[in-house]
Amino acid sequence: MGKRLVVLASGAGSNAQALLDRRDLGGDVVAVVTDVAGAGVIDRARAADVEAVCVDRGDFEDRTGWEAALTESVAARDPDLVVLAGFMRILSDAFVRRWPILNVHPSLLPAFPGAHAVRDALAHGVKVTGVTVHFVVEEVDAGPIVAQVALGIEADDTPETLHERLKTIEHRLLPESVALFCADRLRVEGRSVRILP
Ligand code: GRF
Repeated sequence: MGKRLVVLASGAGSNAQALLDRRDLGGDVVAVVTDVAGAGVIDRARAADVEAVCVDRGDFEDRTGWEAALTESVAARDPDLVVLAGFMRILSDAFVRRWPILNVHPSLLPAFPGAHAVRDALAHGVKVTGVTVHFVVEEVDAGPIVAQVALGIEADDTPETLHERLKTIEHRLLPESVALFCADRLRVEGRSVRILP
C-alpha cells in the first residue's frame, strides 16, 4: 500500500507542488499543512484536490500551544512520512521523534545551516553550493543526509538568481528522495543513509 505523506510548508510551495505533480512517488500527499495564513501553498494543494490545513502561528499565544495544535493536525492524518518543503519553523524534539521527517535545504550541509543558507553561501564567497535532502533530527539541519547535488556559483549570481537555480534542483531531489522512502529503500545507519537496491 502507498505511504501516507503529510507536507509542511510555509511559503510559495514550489517544492510541495513538485511532490503533488509527481505521479510515481509510491505514496499520496494526504494533506498540506502550513503555519502561515494565506501561504501560496494552500492554493496549490486545493488545485491538486489535496486537503490544506492552516495552523497559523499568529492564532496562538505561545509556541507550545501552536505546536500542540500542529501535532494534532498532523497526527489526525496518520502519516508514514512528514515532508518539510520550505517549512520555516523549528519543531520540538517530541515532534521530531514522532514521525520520520525529510527536509530539503538549499546548501550542501553541514555548510550553511539555518534560514539564510543561500545568502550565507554567497556572503562567504564559496564557489560551489547545492541542495541537501536529509532526515530531520533534534538539531536543526543536522540529520542523516539522503541526497546532495552540487551547483557552481556564477560571478554575477544574486541571492535570487542562485536560489532560483537551487530550487530547480530541489524540485527533482526532494521527490526522488521521498520516492526512495516510499519504496522502503532508505536505511539510516548512524549518521549515514544507505540507499538499498
Ligand atoms: C526552498 O528553497 C527550501 O529549500 C527552503 O525554502 C524554500 C521554499 O520554497 N527551506 P518553496 O516554498 O517550496 O517554493
